[in-house]
Amino acid sequence: MTTVITYGTYDLLHYGHIRLLERAKALGDKLIVGVTADAYDQERGKLNVQQSTLERVEAIKATGLADQVIIEEYEGQKIADIQKYDVDIFAIGSDWRGKFDYIGDYCKVVYLERTRGVSSTEIRAASNPMVKCGIRGINRISKKFFEEMQFVSGIEADCAISDDSDFEDCFDGRLNIVDSYDEFYEGINAVAIFDSIDRHFDAVMDALNHGCHVLCAGPLFMNEAEAKEAFALAEEKGLVIFDAVKTLYFPAFEHLLLLIASGHIGQVKSIDVSCSQIPSDFDPKKATKFDGALYDWGGLASLPIVKILGTDYKDIEYFVHREGEADLFTQCLIRYDDAVASFKVGKGVKTEGNMVITGTKGYVYVAAPWWKIDYFEVRHEDLRATRREFYRYAGEGLRYEALEFVRTINSGNLHHRLQSEEEILCEARIVEAFSNQ
Ligand code: CTP
Repeated sequence: MTTVITYGTYDLLHYGHIRLLERAKALGDKLIVGVTADAYDQERGKLNVQQSTLERVEAIKATGLADQVIIEEYEGQKIADIQKYDVDIFAIGSDWRGKFDYIGDYCKVVYLERTRGVSSTEIRAASNPMVKCGIRGINRISKKFFEEMQFVSGIEADCAISDDSDFEDCFDGRLNIVDSYDEFYEGINAVAIFDSIDRHFDAVMDALNHGCHVLCAGPLFMNEAEAKEAFALAEEKGLVIFDAVKTLYFPAFEHLLLLIASGHIGQVKSIDVSCSQIPSDFDPKKATKFDGALYDWGGLASLPIVKILGTDYKDIEYFVHREGEADLFTQCLIRYDDAVASFKVGKGVKTEGNMVITGTKGYVYVAAPWWKIDYFEVRHEDLRATRREFYRYAGEGLRYEALEFVRTINSGNLHHRLQSEEEILCEARIVEAFSNQ
C-alpha cells in the first residue's frame, strides 16, 4: 500500500489541479490532499484567494480523486502529516521544484510537471476587471499604500496627483505623476485619497462623478451632511466608498470584535483609547487647524468605540488644548445609554497608546500602539483565566485594506462587510461635534 500526499490552495479548482491530482494518485494506492486553511494563506501572504477553506475542500472532494482531505494550518505541518499518515510519496507541481527537497529525509519527493496555460491567478484576473487606482495626495501614507498594494492581486496603481505644489516624489519614479485631473481620471476606475481632511469631500465627490470607487483616509468627512451627500451619489452611481482606517482590516482587530460580540467579557461598560504621535516635521506654530490631533486621529480613535458600542451615542463632550490653530491634545467623552467611552488624541505630545475595553465579566487589554494590533489579552478576575490572542499581520498591514477594497468592488455589493454606512456617518458626527466647539 503506497500512500501519496499533495498540498495546495485549489482556489477556483481548474484543469491544472485535476491533472496534478490524477498523476499524484497514479503514483500509489491512496491519495491524501492537504488544502490550505484561510488563516494559513493569509499568514503566508497569499491574500487573493476567493473561495473559503470549506468551498475549496468540497471542490476537491467532488473530484472523487482524493481518498482523504486534510487541512493545512501551519508551516511545518507537512512533516508532521507525513509521519502521522505514514506517507511514502510527497508529490507537488514543478513550480515548487527544489523547495521541498528537505522532505526527502522523511519520504520520497516527486515534482510533477505543471500544466501550462492555466492558474487560479489567471482565472481570478479574468473573472474580475483590474481595479486601476489613481492616488490623490503624495505623502508618507500614500507611499506606504502604494508599496502594500503590490501584494494584492486585482488592484494596481496607475498614477498619482497632488494638490500641493511642493511635494516630493516619494514613489521614486515608479509611479506616473500627472499634473492635470483630465489625465488623472483617464483609464482609472478607483481613487485612493490621502489628502488633508478639509479636501476630502471635494475629492470624494469628484472621484464619484468620474465613475471611480473611492478609498479615503479617515476621518472621511467633516460633517454628517457631507457624508450623506457622498453616499447618496455613490449609491446612484453604483460605486463604493471605503474608509481607509487600516486597523479595521487587521486580523487581530476582527477577532477582537468577534470575541466581544460573543459575550466573552460580558456587557461592555467602557472603552478607553489613546493615540498620539510626535511627527518629526510637525511645527505647531505653522500648523493649520486641519493639521491637529483630532483631524489626524479622530477616525481611528473612534473606530473601536463605534464598532463595539454602536452609532447611537447620547452625547459627546470635548476637552481641547490648542497651541496656535491646531489642537495638540484633545480628550473626548462619549456617553451611551449604559456605557461610556473616552479617547485621547495627541499630536506633538506623546502618551501611552493603549486600549482597554471593560466588561461585566472581564476586560480586553491591547498594548500600545493598539492601532497596530497583532496581540491582545483577555483578562478576568481569576488571573489564571487570562487569554492571550496573537494574530500576525504582514508588512504594514495596509494590504488587508487594499484587499478588502478589491473584494468589495468585485462583490458588486456597495456596502462592505466590516463597516456600515451608518458607522461612517457616526464618525462624521464625532468629527463635526469637535469642529463645532
Ligand atoms: N498546479 C499544476 N498546474 C497548474 C496549476 C497548479 O500542476 N496549471 C499544481 C500546483 O503545482 C500545485 C497544485 O496544483 O501542486 C495546487 O496549486 P495552487 O497553488 O493551488 O494553484 P495555482 O493555480 O498555481 O494557484 P495560484 O495561481 O493562486 O498560485
